[in-house]
Amino acid sequence: MKYVEASQFGGPEVLAVKEKQTPEPGEGMLLVEVQAAGINYTDVMARKGFYPAIPKAPFTPGLEFAGVVREVGKGVEGFKTGDTVAAITAMGGGYASHLLTPAATAIPFPKHLDPALAAGVLVQGLTAYLVLDQAQVKSGDAVLITAAAGGVGSLAVQLAKARGAKVIGLASESKFHLVKSLGADHVIDYGKAGWAANASEVTGSQGVQVFLDSIGDLASEAFPLLSQFGRWIVYGIRAGKQNALPAGELSGLIGKNLSLSGFNLGANLQLVPHALQELFKSLIDGSLKVEVSKYPLADARIAHIAFEERKTTGKLVLVP
Ligand SMILES: NC(=O)c1ccc[n+]([C@@H]2O[C@H](COP(=O)([O-])OP(=O)(O)OC[C@H]3O[C@@H](n4cnc5c(N)ncnc54)[C@H](OP(=O)(O)O)[C@@H]3O)[C@@H](O)[C@H]2O)c1
Repeated sequence: MKYVEASQFGGPEVLAVKEKQTPEPGEGMLLVEVQAAGINYTDVMARKGFYPAIPKAPFTPGLEFAGVVREVGKGVEGFKTGDTVAAITAMGGGYASHLLTPAATAIPFPKHLDPALAAGVLVQGLTAYLVLDQAQVKSGDAVLITAAAGGVGSLAVQLAKARGAKVIGLASESKFHLVKSLGADHVIDYGKAGWAANASEVTGSQGVQVFLDSIGDLASEAFPLLSQFGRWIVYGIRAGKQNALPAGELSGLIGKNLSLSGFNLGANLQLVPHALQELFKSLIDGSLKVEVSKYPLADARIAHIAFEERKTTGKLVLVP
């Protein structure tokens, strides 16, 4: 079998394809032939050594995969050879042609669903779905979404629209067309200083009820846009963008009854089965679109470079 190894923490150059003997599944395990290994921005953080669940190298990146069961270990019930399954592998291992996964955490997906789409709604789809739930987004809310053309962002735009929200997507200018095509009411380039004034123009006196933030810059210009009882949910961190909350904004936090909270998929695993069922349903009926870019397994390094250079949109998958 083939797999990608990060020999140490560092730049994309630490990633290389290796080969080893395909393992046999032990008790309760499945051997899966991977058809699509999802790439997440978190993999970039892990490669750099900033992801707590992967504390040391060498390691194989990859938090999710979709594929076909090739062998079933002793004691496994409910799965057989040839079944299509997807899973989240919180400690990495997904960038591979084959892997062993516990049957207990494998999720069946419909055979006629493209495995790349199934992978596309795992970590990113579940995050978008569940963060909107946590934020209690309802019809009429104005929702501001960072990296709106990205993996989580492009799904959050569509799911927020499906809840009847007014969506303001934040993205690099080259990605405006995509964000609009996903249904966003407005798209703003948050790389330009003073962008919040444009957002304020479109939200007017209503302000922003929910800010979905994958950047983690607490000094963000978005702060004053939040309305009374506004919810700011941070679910990601980007290198070089973390600034502390300015002390002067605290009176706004109190005065407007704002809440600033975090979201982590790993702490919400009990909600995954229902959320995934909904996401698969929306993929099949065509109400949820995932824009997929496929890379051969050997190009994991190239995919990471594109990710870091902000050249990607939607879902990136490795195809072994
Ligand atoms: N808490 C959780 O459980 C959880 C789960 C999944 C993902 N996450 C986090 O959610 C965020 C989104 O993940 P994703 O996989 O969907 O990635 P993504 O948003 O598709 O990441 C790539 C895009 O992010 C934007 N970006 C903004 N600042 C950036 C920077 N400094 N470097 C690189 N890109 C930057 C760029 O779009 P623009 O050019 O348009 O800005 C870029 O194209 C990540 O921070 C990830 O770690 C958290």
